[in-house]
Formats: sequence, structure tokens, C-alpha cells
Amino acid sequence: MSLSPALIALLTCAWAAAPAPAAERPDVVVADFEAADYGDWTTTGEAFGDGPAAGTLPGQMQVDGFEGRRLVNSFHGGDGAVGTLTSPPFELSRNHVNLLVGGGGYEGETCVNLRVDGEVVRTAVGPNLRPGGSERLRPRTWDVREYAGRTARIEIVDAHRGGWGHVNVDQITLSDTAADVPPPPVTLERPLLVDGSHLLVPIANPGPDAEAVRLGLFDGDRVVQSFNVALPLDGDPNWTAAYPLGPFDVAGKTLTLKTLGSPVNPQTAAAFDRIAVGSADRVLEPADWTRPYRNAFHLAPRRGWNNDPNGLVYHDGLWHVFYQYNPFGIEWGNMHWGHYTSPDLTTWTERPIALFQNGPGDAMFSGGGFVDARNTAGLGAGRLFVAFTSTGRGECLAHSADGVAFTELPENPVVTHSGRDPKIFRHAPTDRWVMAVYEQEETAETRAVPQSAESAAREADLKTAQIAFYRSADLRTWERTGAFTHPDRRSVFECPELFELPVLKDGEPTGETRWVLYGAQNRYFLGTFDGETFTAESGPHGDAHGAFYAAQTFNNAPDGRRIQIGWLRTPLYLERFPNQTVNQCLSLPHELTLHATPDGPRLRFTPVAELTNLRNDLRFEGEDLSADEATAALTAAAGAPSETLITFAEAGRHTLTIDGVDASFEGTSARIFTDRTVTEIYADDGRRLTVRTRPDSAFEDPASRVAAGERVASLRVYGLASIWPPAGSSPAGD
Ligand code: FRU
Repeated sequence: MSLSPALIALLTCAWAAAPAPAAERPDVVVADFEAADYGDWTTTGEAFGDGPAAGTLPGQMQVDGFEGRRLVNSFHGGDGAVGTLTSPPFELSRNHVNLLVGGGGYEGETCVNLRVDGEVVRTAVGPNLRPGGSERLRPRTWDVREYAGRTARIEIVDAHRGGWGHVNVDQITLSDTAADVPPPPVTLERPLLVDGSHLLVPIANPGPDAEAVRLGLFDGDRVVQSFNVALPLDGDPNWTAAYPLGPFDVAGKTLTLKTLGSPVNPQTAAAFDRIAVGSADRVLEPADWTRPYRNAFHLAPRRGWNNDPNGLVYHDGLWHVFYQYNPFGIEWGNMHWGHYTSPDLTTWTERPIALFQNGPGDAMFSGGGFVDARNTAGLGAGRLFVAFTSTGRGECLAHSADGVAFTELPENPVVTHSGRDPKIFRHAPTDRWVMAVYEQEETAETRAVPQSAESAAREADLKTAQIAFYRSADLRTWERTGAFTHPDRRSVFECPELFELPVLKDGEPTGETRWVLYGAQNRYFLGTFDGETFTAESGPHGDAHGAFYAAQTFNNAPDGRRIQIGWLRTPLYLERFPNQTVNQCLSLPHELTLHATPDGPRLRFTPVAELTNLRNDLRFEGEDLSADEATAALTAAAGAPSETLITFAEAGRHTLTIDGVDASFEGTSARIFTDRTVTEIYADDGRRLTVRTRPDSAFEDPASRVAAGERVASLRVYGLASIWPPAGSSPAGD
């Protein structure tokens, strides 16, 4: 808006003519809770800890809305702890007390009180009474004019032990101006006619305009689905999710859409009203496949978030890759299983969601895939199975005749324990199925092999981590046969893998084999397995591999191949791409082989031979290059998507940047796969695998460089094809 000079003159005049406002008394800060201790304030009980918390405490949802770096957070010791925190006396020397309050909504139990002469004269609670909700603190204000000049104390109370049994408080100020208090939270509800194929949900990417809510879709009293989603406060989404309604059998019905859990910020109403039913075509765009931050030859969902690869199995001529999938945001949550298939590990077809969560409280966590070749479950020979953790139930199995639509076993859950990530395979010598599964409860095995002090200092919560083994003849009933653990608990954490590999020497079989027990953090043990017990001969070996996590191998791969895919953990690029629609990806498939070394057998990681299908042009080929020549060649040729094969004249640690990403490695040669946000470096004939992610700055400056003084014996750079449909064409699998 621009004001004319005449109007400005008039306004200035009017203001000058108005009576002078009462002298503004400056605000008085009663407490900003920025120190490491509570100073003159006194505590009782455990809930308030020794001092203000530096934000979120372990096990707590993200706390925000406080000022500075610290706040009062009574989640010390979790929701079970109770206590009080009381201020020294102070004078009510201004008209208002302004403060920030969050946490539990229990009157008198998770509250902040103002006491005058010992009497509670004002009180405030957080907004949350039910599961879900938000840890955000919100402004509150008390008009205290009637107590002007009186002495008061603030008392913060946590007397509630169950869910939301804590309170968050910050920035208590005396002021003559009442704080702007947002309108009270509301519950939103509206009918929704299912006259189309998808639920279209406006999504806010992480940031101050994103409000976390839980939405429920109801058919009468029956919950059709519920999910956690961040709605935009200003009504303007960053992108829109398209969620298939077909599998819920609700076509033609009028459902009710509601916010669940604690009431929500009323500013989400505009976005809530924009939630619609319609065709996915209304919101999906061909450009989804070609966004600048979308990897060109690494698997990822079309939109949303992925983490672990799941259900890896070869079946009837197709490689199946499922993955942990959040259809409703670019951060972790709402775990479904997404699905791709390929005849050749390089051409991929997007398939419908294979496993749907039953609300966020019963999500579909990781597990493996396998084939019941001999019909042990009585559902037909060659039936495809997946094993998964249902977070609300336990370890479960589902099967499929066509590899696309899955049906659960009526016996589910087949194993109940505190754990997750079942991997099932056939153990031929005992003619039994074996489940290797992450377990986290005290057992004879964790007592016999306690956690080391070093591991306890690094990962205290993994005290009871172990990989348990169960066996079964028919897939329907399972019996625990034992567990393996190690003092270094990170080596037996999450997503276990167990398989047998031949030991090679100079590339040839030695006749020996070893069993490999492999954990999510890429540490592995070598040993024997008799169908019940894993006995380690050596380990843990291996390292973290950079941004590579929760890997899994294909069951049933032809020719005894052991092919692994992991989750590549990439950053968000919201500063540059605020409307980012997809986040994370899976690694390239690479083959695991076991090689004799003077220290005993060790794994190597080799990209599968099929990946050469992706090469579409030889951008550079040269030999015996100086560092400057190699730098010039890479600068001209190595932009993503590309594959670089580099051999240095000498072995050692080589410093190298390709397309803005650190591609340094140890050894003589490496194959380096450069995609838009990830770089995979297979060095020294697969002895070392490192994954690095693109720093945000590299979008501006995608430089390539070989360190001065280096000599390059040979260099080849290939351009690689995208595995996605080109922009403008109709996408695969739709
Ligand atoms: C590993 C993991 C698994 C779990 C899954 C949930 O990244 O934590 O243990 O099943 O992710 O998405």
C-alpha cells in the first residue's frame, strides 16, 4: 500500500493532536529460562530436571514455539515423572503477565499458576489431552490489574503421570501490553463424498507455516484410515499428495473427515477445506520425475518420503523392491510399503502401494520378501510372501499370487516380542524357515553378553539389542531358537540380514563358505549358522558407509547372486526448493561377495553388471592425465547423472570433487556414480563403499576437481540415463 503525501500529512496531524499516551513502562522479564540452571527458582520432584532444557528432550516430539535456546520442559524422566518449579516472589508491577505455554492440558496437573497470597488467581494449561497433538508452545496472557503492586509467585506444576504428563513454559514477562493470543484450538469436521479415486491432501513442507495434525476418515463410526500430516497455516500448500482410496472400498460413500487427537490451530481450516476427492492426475505432474533434486537413476517414490528398502525378492522373472513410504509428506511418518518391479534391475515400474498402515498407531515397518517354492504354507507353490512389522501387533506375513495385491495370514501376528524388521529365508539343511529379527528386550543372551562401556556411552538405549532367530515349518507357527548379540550393540541394531556366501580367493571359489550376519549400521559378523544358532568367528567388520543405512539383500536371486540395496539418507533442500515434493532414495543394487584376505574373509561391494545398461554416452575417455587435465575433463563431463571410472597412478588417499560433491577415496581406482543428490563411490574393487550427499551449495557451484600433484592413469566418464519417464510422457505404472 502507498499513501499519498496529503493523507500522510492528515494522519500525522491527527496523531499529533491525540492526547499523549501514558508513559510506556518497559516490560519486566520475570524469567527467560536461558541459563543452564533455575537460579532462585525451586524445584520438587524429578520432572523439571536440574535446569531449563535445551529444547526437545530424548523421546519427546519436536518442541518448538519457545524463545531463545532453553525453556522449562517437565519431560525429564518422561511423562511418568512429576514435580513443581516455583519462582521467588516478585511484584505485579505491570498490567499483564505474558508467557508461553505448551504440553499437557490437564487442569491443576500440567499447569502454570499465578499465586497471590498463596491463592491460585490465574492458571494456564497446554493444549494436549489425547495422543497426537503438538509440543508447540503458544502465547498466553493474564490481566492482573486487580492485583497491581501485590507480591506474587509463579508455580509450574507437573502432577500427571500418563500421556501428555508434562508441561512446557517459557518467557514469563510483565507488560502493559497483553500478548497477542491466537484463537483457541478447534476440532474440524466435514463430510466427504468419495466420487473419485484419490484423496488429495494439501501438504506443508517443514517450516513455521506447517501445522502437524492427525486426520481421520470415517465411514459412520468405522475408521477407514487415519494419518499424520502437516497442513499449511496460510492455506497455501507446497504440494498436494494423492492417496489411493480404491483399496478401502468406499466408492460412492459419504465419509466424514475429522481432525483427531487434540484440537488444532483454527488457521488450518482453509487447508482442511481444500482436502478433496478426485483423480491423481489433478495434482501429479510429469515434472515430478525430473525435479532438480530428484535423483535420476536411484529409486524413490514419485512424491513423499522413503526410508528402508523392504521385501527384496526375485519372483517369476521380476525383481521386487518395496520400501518404507510416507505418502503424506517429505519427512518420516505414516509407514506404508511402496513398490517397484524390474525385469533387469535398471528398468522400473511403479506399482500400487502394497501394504497400508492401519493408522499411524499400526504402521507397516520393515521386513523381507521370500518365495514359498514348496507350498509349505498351503497357499500354492511359488507364492510370493512379505514379512513386516505391524507396529500395533507384531511380526506379520502377507502373501500374493500376482506380486501386486497382498493378503495377510489369518495367524498374524506370527511373532510377538519387543522388536522389528523380520527377514525370512529357507534354511535348506534343516528344511525350515528361519526368521532373523531385531529384538530389544532383556533375554538370556543379552545377560550373557552385556553391552560394553563404550557402547553404553554411545547408545545407552541399545542395552538389550540383539538379533533373534525363530524357525517354522509352515510359516504360520514360529518358535524362538536363540539370539546373537555383541558388546558393541550398534552392530546388532535393526534390519538384520543373514545369508551364506562362498569364500573366493583371486575370484575363484575356495570351496569354503561363511554365514554373514549384517545389521542396519553395516557392521557384519562372519561365522556359521546351523538353522538355530549363529556362531561368530569374527566381527564386527565393516563401517558406516556414509549415508547408507538399513540395507537388505534379495532373496531367491538367480545364480546364487547376493544383491544388496540400502537406504540413502539425503538432506532436505528446502531453502533452495521450498516446494520439494520428494525426499530420500534407495541405493543402486550392488553384489556382495566374500574374498579371502590375510586377515580372513571380507565383503566386497560391486555394482550389478546390469547397471552398464544405463550408460548412454561416453563423455570422456583418456589416459595418463595431469591433475589439471583430469580436472578439465571432469569439469566438462561429470555433471549428474554420470558414472566416472578413475584410476590414479598410485595407491593412497585421493582427494577428488565431482559435480560439487566430495568423491575422495582410499585405494587406486573407483567407480563413482553421481546423481542429483547422492554420490556412490565404489573404491578399490569394491573393498570400500562410501555414499555422500550433495551439499546445498553444490547446486550453485557443481565444481569438479582432482587435487594438484595427482597423476591419473585412466579416466572414463559416461552419461547415464534416467530411470524415470521423460517429462511430458505418461508416467510408468499410472
Ligand atoms: C530403520 C527403521 C526400521 C523400521 C523402519 C521404520 O531405518 O527404523 O528399524 O522398521 O525404519 O520406518
